[in-house]
Amino acid sequence: MKKRLAIIGVFLSLGLVAFSTYKKPVVKSQDPKDIEQKVDSVLALMTLEEKIGQMVQYNGSWDVTGPATGTDNEKKLENLKNGLVGSMLNVTSVEHTREAQKLVMENSRLKIPLIFGYDVIHGYQTMFPVPLGESASWDLELMEKTARVAGRETAAAGIHWTFAPMMDISRDARWGRIMEGAGEDPYLNSKIAVARIKGLQGDDLSDAKTIAACAKHFAGYGFAEAGRDYNTVNVGIYELNNTILPPFKAAADAGVATFMNSFNEIDGVPATASTYLQRDLLKGDWGWDGFVVSDWGSITELIPHGVAKDKKAAAALAVKAGSDMDMEGGAYESSLKELIGEGKVDESLIDDAVKRILRVKFRLGLFNDPYKYCDEAFEKSELYSEANQKVALEAGKKSIVLLKNENEILPISNSIKNIAVIGPLANDKDSPLGNWRAHAVENSAVSVFEGIKNHAPKGLKVSYAEGAKLSTGDRSFLNPMTFNEDDKSGFAEAEKLAKSADLVVLVVGEDAFQTGEGRSQANIGFAGVQDDLIKAIQKANKNVVMVLMNGRPMDLSWSDKNVPAIVESWFLGSQHGNAVAEVLFGKYNPSGKLPVSFPHNSGMEPLYYNVKSTGRPDGGAQVTYSHYTDSPREALYPFGFGLSFTDFEYGDINLSANSFSENGEIEASISVKNTGEMAGEETVQLYLHDLVGSITRPNLELKAFEKVSLQPGESKTVKFTIDKKMITYFTANKKWEAEAGDFEVMIGGNSVDLKKANFEFK
Ligand code: NOJ
Repeated sequence: MKKRLAIIGVFLSLGLVAFSTYKKPVVKSQDPKDIEQKVDSVLALMTLEEKIGQMVQYNGSWDVTGPATGTDNEKKLENLKNGLVGSMLNVTSVEHTREAQKLVMENSRLKIPLIFGYDVIHGYQTMFPVPLGESASWDLELMEKTARVAGRETAAAGIHWTFAPMMDISRDARWGRIMEGAGEDPYLNSKIAVARIKGLQGDDLSDAKTIAACAKHFAGYGFAEAGRDYNTVNVGIYELNNTILPPFKAAADAGVATFMNSFNEIDGVPATASTYLQRDLLKGDWGWDGFVVSDWGSITELIPHGVAKDKKAAAALAVKAGSDMDMEGGAYESSLKELIGEGKVDESLIDDAVKRILRVKFRLGLFNDPYKYCDEAFEKSELYSEANQKVALEAGKKSIVLLKNENEILPISNSIKNIAVIGPLANDKDSPLGNWRAHAVENSAVSVFEGIKNHAPKGLKVSYAEGAKLSTGDRSFLNPMTFNEDDKSGFAEAEKLAKSADLVVLVVGEDAFQTGEGRSQANIGFAGVQDDLIKAIQKANKNVVMVLMNGRPMDLSWSDKNVPAIVESWFLGSQHGNAVAEVLFGKYNPSGKLPVSFPHNSGMEPLYYNVKSTGRPDGGAQVTYSHYTDSPREALYPFGFGLSFTDFEYGDINLSANSFSENGEIEASISVKNTGEMAGEETVQLYLHDLVGSITRPNLELKAFEKVSLQPGESKTVKFTIDKKMITYFTANKKWEAEAGDFEVMIGGNSVDLKKANFEFK
């Protein structure tokens, strides 16, 4: 925080903040034609330096998300005053954004307002579940709602734009940023991306309670080899189009205001320098008219990538490829003018980029009132409001996934009189806040121990022992995590407590800072002495409910065999402990389903459900497809999996016809019955298998889902429409087409237990 205020501090100390002389223009209009005219008229007034300035984004502090490579503070200040900067990131609060905006409005020639951006990944001050966790809710309305609240808190803090949602498909649990996305599936990611964009942007970007969203990271960042952050990505054109790009296309279609490119290369071309991605697809075929911001310094990183010899060459590559704004890299600022003077870059490219940036500023209404997000009263009433906490609790409950529940140990029965809450994360009020925590107050979350105490019925004894520490030392962004590898001094007390209790709630998993940017791990088991603690507690008391806190799929193979109940609680945000307690005591029946496959061990990664059959499909012999000689091949907990306190029974699939053609469709229906004794929610999932394609096709692909609520004994018929759009993919012709042939449709409550039927597309 101190660092974040650094540049603002410099402004203030130089006494540069004067009274506002800015006059509000009378006209307020969101008519697209009108906006285009205004964009053109502003552009016509601009000098080349001012245009390039719009393509420059400064950081309001140093060291926030990477090494700062830009200009020094005083020079930055001068450039701001001269209207040579288009945007700033990491300037937060009404007070500070207003001060920075004033510098431009009161000193620059054209008074083009700054756009302020900030990483609001799962909440601003009220924290929601980390995106991967929240995706387990499969509840699009909920995700729109949490994004709306996060957007409102961000707007209330004077900020216009967030670098979210992240929609990188990731199949590798070792990758630390898997926590920031919606998991491994293109369809689920697309739906969630659109819901989050709708939440953040609302229907009207010019509303001062909505903010601009950013589809990131374009593209392929989640496919980093071996799960190592920023690593090489080698995917072919079919995988890129069929698996990685669909959420981005959906985001563009949904009108996302901005895109961010990515650090990685794809097949030899860094995404930041990719003309195919940015100009040909996004701004060409997709007809999208917003602007692309680079990732932090990703233009300058074209130098270490080895495709540019210096900043100037990097700037030329990036601008030609369609990167419109340079985030803290300093390459555009230092080189574009020279490149144009030398005829190496055409000024029309600059004009196009600037028009895109101005367009978004007009859409946000910043030309009408550059201070419209500067409302202290709104800031005060909105941040961390009671209403927002309620949404956080709802999101927390809906994101929990019940992975195992042997002998119905959950919900905790009335016969339990004495609970021991044990584990390094059991009374942790900080890790539940997750990694990208924006302005969350440290240690402000409700811990699991607190939640259990809040919800325990009268007369239930609840006691706590930490057992062991998980992490030691500094957990800050730029430092590697260190773990307690040998201190077991708390074990004895925890074991004693476990022995004396009727039931143990064992809270283990990951520190919040084990996932996130630069937080990849080769091993996805329990860090520190947790394995030994789990075994010791399980030995002391067989009645163990394991509550996991984590940002990635973990290796749970020992626990799955030995611990009777496992509750996946991710990092649920501000209301973590209350959400978990409601599930443990059966006040809320869990309904989450995994958005990502859980392996038996780290060596199985990358692991995903929508695999292809290969030329050696199953045959039981050693030399058939994908056998490991030392590990199962299938997921421990598959994609789409999650238990409930009740049971659901599926009928057979009914198809309205066995074939359809061009403009036709088939209705697939299935009955789902709640056969248990508690009301519950089930996510009914539909998968397709294209049996023969012009390129190899996945064994199954999620194509639709619906959540149904069922009372005990109640059944409902769920109907899905299968049409041409659903079977269209990027074919051998390098086109989006539906190919005639046979298909299998599968419906069920996860990607493994499925009813099947067949149809043909003619
Ligand atoms: C780098 C990250 O990759 C990106 O997601 C983030 O938005 C920027 N830093 C800005 O903080």
